Amino acid sequence: QMNYKVVVAGAAGGIGQPLALLLKQNPLVTRLALYDIAPVTPGVGVDLSHMDTPAKVTGHKGPEELPAAIKGADVVVIPAGVPRKPGMTRDDLFNTNASIVRDLAACVAQNAPKAIMAIITNPVNSMVPIASEVMKKAGVYDPARILGVTTLDVVRAAAFIGEINGVDPRSVTIPVIGGHSGVTIIPLLSQSQPAVKLSDQEKIKALTQRIQEAGTEVVKAKAGGGSATLSMAYAGARLTGSVLRGLKGESNVVECAYIKSDLTESPYFANPVVLGPNGVAKNLGYGQLNNYEQQLLKEAIPELLKNIKTGVDFANK
Ligand code: APR
Repeated sequence: QMNYKVVVAGAAGGIGQPLALLLKQNPLVTRLALYDIAPVTPGVGVDLSHMDTPAKVTGHKGPEELPAAIKGADVVVIPAGVPRKPGMTRDDLFNTNASIVRDLAACVAQNAPKAIMAIITNPVNSMVPIASEVMKKAGVYDPARILGVTTLDVVRAAAFIGEINGVDPRSVTIPVIGGHSGVTIIPLLSQSQPAVKLSDQEKIKALTQRIQEAGTEVVKAKAGGGSATLSMAYAGARLTGSVLRGLKGESNVVECAYIKSDLTESPYFANPVVLGPNGVAKNLGYGQLNNYEQQLLKEAIPELLKNIKTGVDFANK
C-alpha cells in the first residue's frame, strides 16, 4: 500500500495548521482529514484543498463529525488541546488536555482501531498512558501503535549541535531519551554523531539544560503569544512521514518516540525505535550512558513515574 489517510485532530490550531500544510505536501498522504472544534476548520480544509498536491483534504468540525474524520485512518496525529501560557508548566494543562485526548482515543478505538496514534498534546508523558488505557478498555490496545511525539527534542538538539559544530544540522544524529518535559528530556550528547565540539563538562551541562528547557525558551520569546508551534509542526510532520514510510515497508526507518517500554523502571519511555508496517517494529534502546547521563536518567525516572501515574489515574477514574 502506498496511499494513506492521515487525520490531524486539532487541525485549526497553531500546530495543527502548519502540520496540515506540511502533510499536504507529503506524497504518501492521499487523504488528509482535518478535525477541530473551531469554526474555521472547514475553511482551513478548503484553503489547503487548493494546493496542487494529490492529497484529498476534508474538514470536519465538532464531535458529531469526528467519526467520519477518523474512519479509515492509517495515522491520527493529535495536537488538539490548550497550549502553554507564560508561567504555566505543561502539567498545568493536564485536565483539559487529558479529556480531549481520552475522547479522541475512544473515537479512534471505535472507528479506526488499527490506526497509529501520534500524540503531540501535552503533557505527552501522561497523554500516551491515557490513550493506552482507553484502548485497553476498548479491547483494541496495541502498544506498537501509540507514540508520543518527542521528535522536537531531537530536532532541537540537532539544531543546537549543528550551530555549535558549524555543520548542517540535518547531518547530526543525536538520540534524546526519557520523556517530553523538563528533566525527563535526556539528550545523549555523548552519542552525538558527529561528536559535539564542546571542551568541558560545564558546557555539556549547559547544552543539556538548554535542550530540556527549549520549550520554555519559545514560550518566553513569544511573550504571551503561545508555545512552540512551527517547529513542533515540522517535527510532527517528520515523525508522521517516518510512520508512513514504515507502514509502506521501507526498512531502517528510525525515530525517537515515547512508547510502552520495559527497558527501565518507567513503563513508558522514549528512545530510538524502528518503525515498520505495524507501527513500532523494534525498540533500539539507548546504548551506553556516561556518568552524567546515568545521573540524568536517575532524575528522570521518578518524574516519569509520577506523570504516568497521573495519566493512568485520570483514565481510570
Ligand atoms: N477536539 C479537537 N480539537 C480541539 C479540542 C477538541 N476537543 N479542543 C481544542 N481543540 C483545538 C483548538 O480549537 C485549537 O484549534 O486544538 C487546537 C489547539 O491549538 P492552539 O490553541 O493554537 O494550541 P497549539 O499551540 O497548537 O498547541 C496544542 O500541543 O504542544 C502541545 O502544549 C501544546 O497541548 C498543546 C497542544
